[in-house]
Amino acid sequence: MAASAPSGVTGMPGLKGRVALVTGATRGVGLAIARKLAASGCAVVLNHRGPEAAAGEVLRELSRLPGSVETVRADVSRPAQMTAALRTVEERHGRLDVLVHNAATWHPMPATGVRARPLRADLSVALAPLLSAAPLLPGLMPDGGRVVAVSSSGARSVVPGGYVSAGVAKAALESLVRYLAAELAGHRINVNAVSTAKIDKGPGTADPQVLAMLARRTPAGRLTVPEDVADAVALLCADEAAWIHGQTLVVDGGLGLLA
Ligand SMILES: NC(=O)c1ccc[n+]([C@@H]2O[C@H](COP(=O)([O-])OP(=O)(O)OC[C@H]3O[C@@H](n4cnc5c(N)ncnc54)[C@H](OP(=O)(O)O)[C@@H]3O)[C@@H](O)[C@H]2O)c1
Repeated sequence: MAASAPSGVTGMPGLKGRVALVTGATRGVGLAIARKLAASGCAVVLNHRGPEAAAGEVLRELSRLPGSVETVRADVSRPAQMTAALRTVEERHGRLDVLVHNAATWHPMPATGVRARPLRADLSVALAPLLSAAPLLPGLMPDGGRVVAVSSSGARSVVPGGYVSAGVAKAALESLVRYLAAELAGHRINVNAVSTAKIDKGPGTADPQVLAMLARRTPAGRLTVPEDVADAVALLCADEAAWIHGQTLVVDGGLGLLA
């Protein structure tokens, strides 16, 4: 029997009142993370790059949850805009407790024909947000906090279909997570990553044959859905995760265990 995906959203105990910023939060995995944190009673600031109007629908949906939700518009690959987004959170809430860096881009290309500009773009979206935030975090998180980056199995394995620039960017992101974790641990700021494989984001988002093949191959019996990643992010934000630093938690139903 196929395993069923989680239905509904439940809050993570202990996160009520935390102030969280999620990058790329108005669709896909970022939206699931924002929803989970809002369900946990957090004050969630959803970063988006596009027009305010597009984020309105998302705000309406999440406003039914126990936490509060609002948006901040920024292209987080641009250091000045990422810094401004963090300052906006500080002005509105006085501090930041949780920073989830989820935003990503992927420009398909072969490894034997890498194009410099799109490679730089994928690297910038992966790295610039945390690099820009890092010097500000001890001040923004005076009582400690959590930083969680969303990574991909393509950081360690070869994902077919020209994933090289995104894979290299995620490998660099996971490395950056370790370096930041070591430097920020003394400020009681935990920096970790969650990594996942191909995600089922619903009809029309990926080749159904590929999804079915991967679901059959996954030991736990189904593909990963955005809510699985959101649950893992929330786990890393729990008080009980306070001693976890610089780790990449794999959330894939066991798919990556197979040779
Ligand atoms: N989907 C998968 O199968 C899969 C597998 C493994 C890992 N992941 C990881 O999971 C995370 C989310 O994936 P997803 O599939 O949900 O992605 P998605 O649907 O492509 O959404 C990415 C989000 O990031 C935003 N974004 C991109 N560049 C940005 C920038 N410079 N500034 C601000 N926002 C920006 C996008 O905004 P716009 O709407 O403006 O483009 C979008 O909201 C990513 O880190 C991805 O690498 C995904």
